[in-house]
Amino acid sequence: MLALEERGLRLSLANGDLAYFNYYWLRDNCTSAWDESTQERIYDILEEPDDLKPKTAQIDASTLTIEWPDGHQSRYDLAWLARWHYPNGQVCMGHGDLAQRKRQPWYADHYSQIKRFSFPELIEQPAQVADWTEALLDEGIALLTEMPNSNEGLQQACELIGVVRSSFSGYTFDVRTEANPVNLAYTNKALELHTDLPPEELAPGIQFLHCRVNDAIGGESLFVDACSVAQAFKAQYPDYFNLLTTLKVPFRYTTNFQDVRARQVIIELDPYNGEVSGIHFSQHLADVFDFPPEVMDAFYPAFRKFGQMLQDPKYLMRFRLNAGECIVFDNHRVVHGRSAFVAGSGARHLRGCYVDRNEMRSTYRVLRAKYPKGEAE
Ligand code: OGA
Ligand code: ZN
Repeated sequence: MLALEERGLRLSLANGDLAYFNYYWLRDNCTSAWDESTQERIYDILEEPDDLKPKTAQIDASTLTIEWPDGHQSRYDLAWLARWHYPNGQVCMGHGDLAQRKRQPWYADHYSQIKRFSFPELIEQPAQVADWTEALLDEGIALLTEMPNSNEGLQQACELIGVVRSSFSGYTFDVRTEANPVNLAYTNKALELHTDLPPEELAPGIQFLHCRVNDAIGGESLFVDACSVAQAFKAQYPDYFNLLTTLKVPFRYTTNFQDVRARQVIIELDPYNGEVSGIHFSQHLADVFDFPPEVMDAFYPAFRKFGQMLQDPKYLMRFRLNAGECIVFDNHRVVHGRSAFVAGSGARHLRGCYVDRNEMRSTYRVLRAKYPKGEAE
């Protein structure tokens, strides 16, 4: 069946669904709208009249053919159109996007199951980089082993999945005890569970922490899957959850020469499907909260309850990071911290940096398309 309506047409798909497509959308996505070499759209929908409607439309076998009033002909493969159909009016964006994968929640006992990748193998085998980025999409965390004891090694690892993203901590940063620390991380104190750098306008995406030396007593690494926690939080405290997904909370980082501020939601939702995609959480970088009284009264119970749930041992994965390992995690999804270590008990040095999540997703799409799962290179 094919029916031309006022602003769009209706047609039956192979699965029997009746699908609707707007005329401007159809014209905008004619196969001739794209530049063959750059794959960018070179067609300008703004030039069309206000009442665009096909002169004729017909379906032959698996193709919809439209002739437009200016004489241009467009042909659409019905299987391709079916990908953009919204069944029962439900929202489904990201059609055909390999990087839209189901997040796999994990809990305190996850350490033995963290996906591990040997750095020399990653360098040699791009299919393993596809598996590594898939682990980052699914679980938000992976462990690199056999890392060289060099700055270059960390940079090379980052460049397998994207470009190093600078932040107010620099291009890379070194976590070790300093005489005059600008940051709690550079002391031997415990670091509360946090996500890094919410005062950035866009908090960094994928975080690398490369352990170069860890001979200190204490200083265990702490990681929590904030998506697991936020799911439980949503079920138990829906009103608190709604507040923390909408209220923009101020964060701030200051030194003698920096004053970086941004407002972020505590719980971040995935724009594609509304699921929890991450959080912004850092008590040491939270600015003075500046909400009106009634919002303040609602905020603190929600914030405190969520922070307490993050600390619940049920979710807290705790382990020792060893020299030669690099933990790589989604800094929005995975909350991290460390226990205090004994000053003077031994050297401890982690070198860190970031790559944004979109770079990683792009790498995943390209590599997974090239190296489908389960197939050898
Ligand atoms: C940091 C941090 C973890 C550690 O520097 O932000 O979380 O184990 N460090 O020192
Ligand atoms: Zn941190």
